[in-house]
Amino acid sequence: MTMPDTFSRRVLLMKLGIFFNGIIAAILAIPIVGYLFSPINRARKSTDEAWLPLGPLEQYPSGQTRLATFRNADVRPWDGKTADSACWVRRIDAQTFQVFAINCAHLGCPVRWFAQSRLFMCPCHGGVYYEDGGRASGPPERGLFEYAYKVEDGKLFIKVGELPTPGTSSALVNLSGKLPCA
Ligand code: FES
Repeated sequence: MTMPDTFSRRVLLMKLGIFFNGIIAAILAIPIVGYLFSPINRARKSTDEAWLPLGPLEQYPSGQTRLATFRNADVRPWDGKTADSACWVRRIDAQTFQVFAINCAHLGCPVRWFAQSRLFMCPCHGGVYYEDGGRASGPPERGLFEYAYKVEDGKLFIKVGELPTPGTSSALVNLSGKLPCA
């Protein structure tokens, strides 16, 4: 007489086990599915790339390096000041610029420009860069990242988008990858 009870309890426990295992499998599958679809996400992110204005050329005297700020392209209403970014603009001559990411190529601290020594210096671990963005000394393994730029209607524009990592190319380009002036 106890057989049906035991049997039904066993079936119930088995069904519960299958149910909970299914839930756990679904939870574990989320990051795997996300990884498999990440190329699609990356392709979508590339549409965030945009040309942003840095203001009229007169703001950047020839032979000097100036700090510039811009508002990120992908901004939410609640972002506030966190959507503002900075970069260093070096004007070489009338139509030739270099626009450097403000972040050190080592671990991302904001670098500062010292006009007397004509060097960028990083306050975090002593990274130093030449005025053309090339690495001078310290822990960074490369020079500063550079934005592609163009000149239109007397204004300077930079191309922003996906941030670079040591293993990827991005809207920020390295010293050999900058766009020519328009
Ligand atoms: Fe600049 Fe480390 S973050 S040297």
